[in-house]
Amino acid sequence: MPITPAQLATLKKAARQAAGRAYAPYSRFRVGAAILTESGKVFAGCNVENASYGLCNCAERTAIFSAVAAGERKLRLKCVLVFTPTTKATAPCGACRQVIFEFGPKARVISTCRSRDRQDRLITDLLPNAFGPADLA
Ligand code: THU
Repeated sequence: MPITPAQLATLKKAARQAAGRAYAPYSRFRVGAAILTESGKVFAGCNVENASYGLCNCAERTAIFSAVAAGERKLRLKCVLVFTPTTKATAPCGACRQVIFEFGPKARVISTCRSRDRQDRLITDLLPNAFGPADLA
């Protein structure tokens, strides 16, 4: 089933609000992400940085891990929507693409920003020939 305009609006609002909760004192790059599960639930997350820079967690992974932590045992991602308060939309980093693929091999990934610029791709386009759960079967 396609994502409805109402669901898209919900995701956009949730991602934008999450960006406002980002903990990004080092990069000052505030990111928000919202995920839509196949079961219709929405979870949001922001980036959480650390003085030990390598431990920074991206917004996309925060949102996905929050869903798992909330009890989404059979998490299947339908859509991941990212918001950055920039003039150009930014695609998820490589680590996040891998984590998105784990829970949403068919997920749609939409990047939005302050302007009308946006990117709308499938995770399989962002991460071709991905390594995933099926490779361990
Ligand atoms: N960041 C995200 O939250 N998502 C991405 O896909 C790219 C990068 C965060 C990590 C770090 O807190 C800041 O943006 C700068 O890299």
